[in-house]
Amino acid sequence: MTGARNVKGGLVLLAGGFAAGLAMSLYAFAPLVAVPAGLAHYDDVPRRLFRLAHIAAIMLPLVNIVLGPWLDRLALPGRARAAASWLLLLGAAGLPPALALEAFVPPVILLHLSALPALAFSLGVFLVSAGAYRTDFTKEVSRAGANQHATEGQGDRRRALQEAPGGA
Ligand code: HEM
Repeated sequence: MTGARNVKGGLVLLAGGFAAGLAMSLYAFAPLVAVPAGLAHYDDVPRRLFRLAHIAAIMLPLVNIVLGPWLDRLALPGRARAAASWLLLLGAAGLPPALALEAFVPPVILLHLSALPALAFSLGVFLVSAGAYRTDFTKEVSRAGANQHATEGQGDRRRALQEAPGGA
């Protein structure tokens, strides 16, 4: 299942975003530690970049977790589906550290390192959207509905058996 790596990767990467949030809490309000120069003021570029890294490190893994289960149901050629999967995962893994590097080593900002994972992740989403456009979701919904009925049917039968005299 192609999307399984996005669900697992997203769940693993999510911790990084919260760890960054906890780290920011050390200086963002009443500082508990000596605040590095670039993080002193709310709108300093390094502080904004680190804040963006925190947000990306939470939201991009969440997008992986949400899109992962759909990847295998999209009308996309196998290679495009695999490419979307890897672009979403590598974009989510690469963007937060690239932004954090730009935050802590300001000269690196000029290299625009964070552009690559941001473009990769966006390309992954574009592929998913193109696949969604080609996919007939009515089939998906009816299949999900049929599965639900089947499950309910099984439940009813099990109950009928349990309630039958001398039942299980
Ligand atoms: C325990 C969990 C979290 C902690 C400790 C935390 C901590 C922080 C801190 C300290 C800041 C301010 C940084 C600064 O002043 O430069 C911040 C900003 C932000 N966080 Fe979190 N965060 C957490 C969870 C989340 C979650 C789940 C989201 C959802 C995406 C999120 C989104 C944001 C956003 C959008 C900002 C920027 C807000 C603004 O512009 O002031 N955070 N976070």
